[in-house]
Amino acid sequence: MEIEVLEGLSAWFSGYVQTFKTGDFDADRNIILKEGHTARVRREIREFGESLGLPGEDLRLAEAASLLHDVGRFPQYALYKTFSDRRSCDHAAFSVQVLRDEGVLDDLDPRERDLIVKVVSYHNRASIPQEEPDGRCIFFSKLLRDADKLDVWSLLLDYYHRRACEGYRNEALELDLPDGPEISEEVCRSLLAGEIVKVKDLFSQNDFKLLQASWIFDLNFRPALVAVRDRGYLKRTRERLPRSEEVNRIFELLESRLEERIKAERTQGPD
Ligand SMILES: [Fe+2]
Repeated sequence: MEIEVLEGLSAWFSGYVQTFKTGDFDADRNIILKEGHTARVRREIREFGESLGLPGEDLRLAEAASLLHDVGRFPQYALYKTFSDRRSCDHAAFSVQVLRDEGVLDDLDPRERDLIVKVVSYHNRASIPQEEPDGRCIFFSKLLRDADKLDVWSLLLDYYHRRACEGYRNEALELDLPDGPEISEEVCRSLLAGEIVKVKDLFSQNDFKLLQASWIFDLNFRPALVAVRDRGYLKRTRERLPRSEEVNRIFELLESRLEERIKAERTQGPD
């Protein structure tokens, strides 16, 4: 992707986000939150791409996908006042719809357009569809899924800290799940089996925190795994959960699986 094309998409994005702002900080806080998330995912994906040795045109393509991945979040929040896809709509499909309705990708090279649409639509799925035949699409999807998870995890850890220290609340970041000491049986089972926790098994805030911890099984690239370790995400997540034998057991397993994965992963570029 050429620099001018990425700059054009960036200008469109900034203008689009502005249309959802009222000028009232409280009313706009979740729009600003997703705007900040997008900017950080873009920075993160660029850094991951650079450490994997991607050429400039692929770095810009990855940045474009990250810039556009959550555009559906803005109308989703405006319409439904929630970020819970279960209670509203699939926000990735909504992002694709916005891109089509607004003609955002109309002037792009058709191969880049098709790739961005697929990468955006796959970013929030439980997994990339097995039948996807395009190696480049799979590579860029993995990259976006890693960068996205890293920032969502960090954003939620910061939120849990603020909530505990300042009593700050934002229901949109709690996916409307109740708070309580419980951890669901199925969530524990998934973690101890080395599997990602399923959204359908979430019944509490603790379950949601454990879903984030299970992302170590779903990260693809070494730089993302190293970032999780160096930023202490597992330790910080554990601090926000009840102290129990079960939680200890889960986190001992997760810490050792993270180390194993860091050792095992080889860096790899697109086909
Ligand atoms: Fe998203």
